[in-house]
Order: sequence, then C-alpha cells, then structure tokens
Amino acid sequence: MKDVPFTFELNKPDFIPTEYYNHIKRSLSAMKGQFWDREAYNRLLAIEDIVLYEVYEIKRPEMAGELLHGISIVHPGKVGEEYFMTKGHFHTVLETAEVYYCQKGQGVMVMETPEGDWAVEPLNPGRVLYVLPRWAHRSVNTSSEEDLVTFFVYPGNAGHDYGTIEEHGFRKMVIDRNGRPTITDNPRWSAPDRRK
Ligand code: F6R
Ligand code: ZN
Repeated sequence: MKDVPFTFELNKPDFIPTEYYNHIKRSLSAMKGQFWDREAYNRLLAIEDIVLYEVYEIKRPEMAGELLHGISIVHPGKVGEEYFMTKGHFHTVLETAEVYYCQKGQGVMVMETPEGDWAVEPLNPGRVLYVLPRWAHRSVNTSSEEDLVTFFVYPGNAGHDYGTIEEHGFRKMVIDRNGRPTITDNPRWSAPDRRK
C-alpha cells in the first residue's frame, strides 16, 4: 500500500485503473434470488455463468479517515426483462455516504432507506451521484450495448451489509418495458425489521 500521495489514470475505452489492488468479478450465480424472473435466471445460468459486473479496488486501510475508491463496471444484458445490476448493499455503518461519478454508459442507481424512502437516479457520463448516509444502493445498466462505468468513493470504515438486500430485495426494480427502462414495484420485496 502506498504511504505517499499517489495518482493513477483511468484508461479509455474501458476505464480500467492503471494501478489497482483487487479485481472482483461477480457472475450470475452470485445473484441467486435477486432477479425477479427466476425461470429466466435459471435458463440463463444453465447456458453460462456469465460475469454481470466487475470492480477494480484501490487498496486503502478500512478505517475512518481513509477513502475507499475504485471503478465499477456493469455489463449490458438482461435476465428476463430485468437489466443486469449489482447485488446492492447498505453500508454496515449506516451513517456513511458514497459518491459515484459516471464515466461511461447509461443506467440508474436504485436506492432505499430502512425507513421506506426510495429513489432512482440516472447515471450517465459526467453525472455525479451522492448517495446519502442510510441509503442502500444498487447500480443498474439500462443500455443494451455499453458497459456502465462508475468511479466510487466512500469512507474507509463503511463496511458492507449485503445480507439485508439478499434476504429482502429492493422495494423497486428497473425493467425493460417496450424498450424503455421502467421503475416498478418488486413483487419479491419483503419488509426487513426496522433498523436503528
Ligand atoms: C462500495 C460500493 C461500490 C460497489 C460496487 C459493486 O460501497 O457501493 O463500490 O461495491 O458497485 O456493487 P456491490 O458491492 O453491491 O456488489
Ligand atoms: Zn456502497
């Protein structure tokens, strides 16, 4: 890990950082239960366990005062009518925010709070998204051709709670309806216990 100030570049066309510590690939099998159309999910998985998204992480200590950052790349595609997306999570330390800066592609961020508020905001090149503390977040690629590439930054002590979303889902989902991204209620959503 660097102990002096450092720079790196995000190389076009793919925006892969010139230096990174970790390259995570999440494939279809890691998203079991998250897509609404289970038959479409199983059909696709039977053909191939394709990679849905990738994350390049820059190494920093996971502690308050540090900023964890990197690049997230969601590939284009759909499971049934539902676009490829990230697992999504709350931060374990709920009162921690995150900034996303979209470099490439077209998509949305689906967000919600434990209190029941929800929001879906666009991601397109040049757009900055501020995810408030307490808001779970999932990026969705609504393009049929291009990767959705975002640069993210969040506090080193945030941590990730994937379990709540894995178990209960997001309230809203984004599906392709007649060729247009459409926000609908997620029929598989269930109410989690209220968190503090
Ligand atoms: C970190 C963060 C992003 C995501 C990335 C992949 O707090 O929000 O770096 O980790 O977009 O999504 P998940 O982590 O939900 O698989
Ligand atoms: Zn996050």
